[in-house]
Amino acid sequence: MIILKINITQAGYGKKVVIKDINLEINEKEITAFIGPNGAGKSTLLKTIIGIVDNFDGSILYDNKEIILTSPEEKVKNGISFVPQGNRVFEGLNVKENLEIGGYLIKSKKELALRIDEIINTFPDIKDRLKQNAGNLSGGEKQQLAIARALMLKPKILMLDEPSLGLAPGLLSNAMGLIKEINLKYGTTVLIVEQKVKDVLKISDKVVALKLGEIVFKGKPDELTDMKVKEIFISS
Ligand SMILES: Nc1ncnc2c1ncn2[C@@H]1O[C@H](COP(=O)(O)OP(=O)(O)OP(=O)(O)O)[C@@H](O)[C@H]1O
Ligand SMILES: [Mg+2]
Repeated sequence: MIILKINITQAGYGKKVVIKDINLEINEKEITAFIGPNGAGKSTLLKTIIGIVDNFDGSILYDNKEIILTSPEEKVKNGISFVPQGNRVFEGLNVKENLEIGGYLIKSKKELALRIDEIINTFPDIKDRLKQNAGNLSGGEKQQLAIARALMLKPKILMLDEPSLGLAPGLLSNAMGLIKEINLKYGTTVLIVEQKVKDVLKISDKVVALKLGEIVFKGKPDELTDMKVKEIFISS
């Protein structure tokens, strides 16, 4: 089933158009990887979906409902979650408090505590560290916390912008494995922007390549040849 139908004519910042003619259908419960060189507009695409770009034109259907004009808060409430590029955790707060912020719509304290218990088990590196200051976590642990926080409200769609950023190469396959585990365990639809093409393709059902703000490839990972990858990343 199609969960997102994206038809963005154009989007960008101020008067600048960054992405254009983005037509995509995202299937429920699939992982879709977005790849492409720096500046291609990958982050802008996720930002357009959540609704934090200055200008946009087009349509985004979520469960067949038009959402392009709804606020980011409303989208989060309705099950779309976004972890932006860079490790975003509240450094002055501990792990548990970070998770509580992610669960801000859960009114009952008991329910909130239960949800934290439930979610934290998926994240082995932070699960016994609820009282630790988030600022003292390693890069990989912060990224786990950011993802755990984004899952607190049981989103249907999880959007991740370069979760591998700043991770030691040895931790990359762990990070990708974790994302796949979330996808399978909770049935979460995942949209992931990633520069580490080989690693992300291993866990993805679909891949979309962007170049200069436009889609230059969409298909299954095994349809994306090495030649094509080179072509996408070669500067023009
Ligand atoms: N807030 C902003 N205001 C103006 N221009 C912006 C803004 N954010 C991004 N841009 C521009 O939009 C273009 C696309 O940026 P975007 O961040 O979407 O690329 P990206 O594919 O995510 O790149 P990277 O792989 O480096 O993260 C770039 O030219 C960038 O300079
Ligand atoms: Mg980016």
